[in-house]
Amino acid sequence: MTTRRTLLKSGLALPLTSLLNGCSQVNEEDLTTFYEDGLYLSGNFGPVEIESTVTEMKVSGTIPEELSGRFLRNGPNPFSEVNPSSHHWFIGDGMVHGIRLEEGRADWYRNRWVRSTRIVEALGEAVNGRMLTGGPNTNVIAHAGRVWALVESGTAPSELNYELDTIGHDSGWGAYSAHPKYDPDKGELHAISYDWANYRDHVKYVVMGADAKLVKSLDIRLSGMSMVHDMALTEHYAIIFDFPVTLSFVALGLGSDFPFRWDEKHQARLGLLPRDGRAEDIIWCNVSQCYAFHPVNAYEDESGNVVVDICRYDRMFAADTNGPFGDSLPRLDRWTVNPKTQNVSEQIIDERTQEFPRCHPELNSKPYQFAYTLAVGDRSFPGVYKQDMKTGESSMFNFGKGRHGGEPVFVPKQSGTSEDDGYLMTFVYDETSNTSELIILDALDLNQEALARVHLPVRVPYGFHGNWIADKSLI
Ligand SMILES: [Fe+2]
Repeated sequence: MTTRRTLLKSGLALPLTSLLNGCSQVNEEDLTTFYEDGLYLSGNFGPVEIESTVTEMKVSGTIPEELSGRFLRNGPNPFSEVNPSSHHWFIGDGMVHGIRLEEGRADWYRNRWVRSTRIVEALGEAVNGRMLTGGPNTNVIAHAGRVWALVESGTAPSELNYELDTIGHDSGWGAYSAHPKYDPDKGELHAISYDWANYRDHVKYVVMGADAKLVKSLDIRLSGMSMVHDMALTEHYAIIFDFPVTLSFVALGLGSDFPFRWDEKHQARLGLLPRDGRAEDIIWCNVSQCYAFHPVNAYEDESGNVVVDICRYDRMFAADTNGPFGDSLPRLDRWTVNPKTQNVSEQIIDERTQEFPRCHPELNSKPYQFAYTLAVGDRSFPGVYKQDMKTGESSMFNFGKGRHGGEPVFVPKQSGTSEDDGYLMTFVYDETSNTSELIILDALDLNQEALARVHLPVRVPYGFHGNWIADKSLI
């Protein structure tokens, strides 16, 4: 049964300055409608029931010929019936959706559950020794020429083949993260991984080489088992986000599917860990109480300050224990951290609500100019923002009435001449037709019509993260 509960509201203690005028504010009505039991199973949050292979797709516009590869995106899609009142959006079995492009054609669309032993057994498929008990549901990346589905909290990545069938996990990764950060200079992946059932009092800083072999693993002790969803990287630091969402023994005792809750007593802070240092070298810096899943990027400025751009929520999992949008909605902030004084200056970049930030992949950990985010509204994801982080200017591509997008993945053009000379790719869901499409935008100008739309006869549920995986990046 659908119920409504009392909204929790909170405010920031620090004086903040907006770079942009006239921005819309998060209003109570937005949160109220985001806040219902079962919401994260309804509409396009709801799972699809079958795996499809589609080879005939209508294309509007022109797919750039240089795009040869696959656009892949992972997300939760419960395989079995779940209880709407207790189900958490983050817990559903992973399903990867992919579209294969080549020489201006769209060859196929596939959606496949990331196989776990439970799903394999339920489908009567053969179990191999590399199957996991859980199917990673959060991200899908290429590394070391192979493709991996990722999730946080104690599960290893699971390898997929070209057709998105699950090969299985690779024990060399260990318990991993859904959000490794790519070092464009070394080709390494840096991650903060946690495993609440086993680590309890610490997280791990893990560096995987370009060959997917372990380079470094360091235990970082924390005062509580925080939910550490993501991290950030700069030239000299790995940045750990220790926010007040921690393992709740009360929730565990109640048998909750998702045992993390808002923890007001846990001070929000970030840790600057020297990339070549030891755990005791970490510099902890407090920030105002908040939660954040995703930084856009981080870098070191000319003064040696660490700049972190991030989608910041006032609260998380305090009242809404089924998903991320019922306690507050995220805005775009910049934190400037002085490693010597441990002072953090917090600044609002854009008060409009937005999530799933991306930037040019080769500028991760470096100074950059452009961020791309998904607009978040009242049960809606109505457009893509392009944020000029130097000038404060912003533009938006609106998906249209009743149409909702996902994480905007930036793909540089091969002959690109500027940081924003590339494509933005995402799945867009249309409420009227109850179908989805892959949309390809020219990131140089979001006021233009889309370059191409690949129309699917099926819908792609709202999900989390993915990437354009060029064929040339594979073994
Ligand atoms: Fe994420």
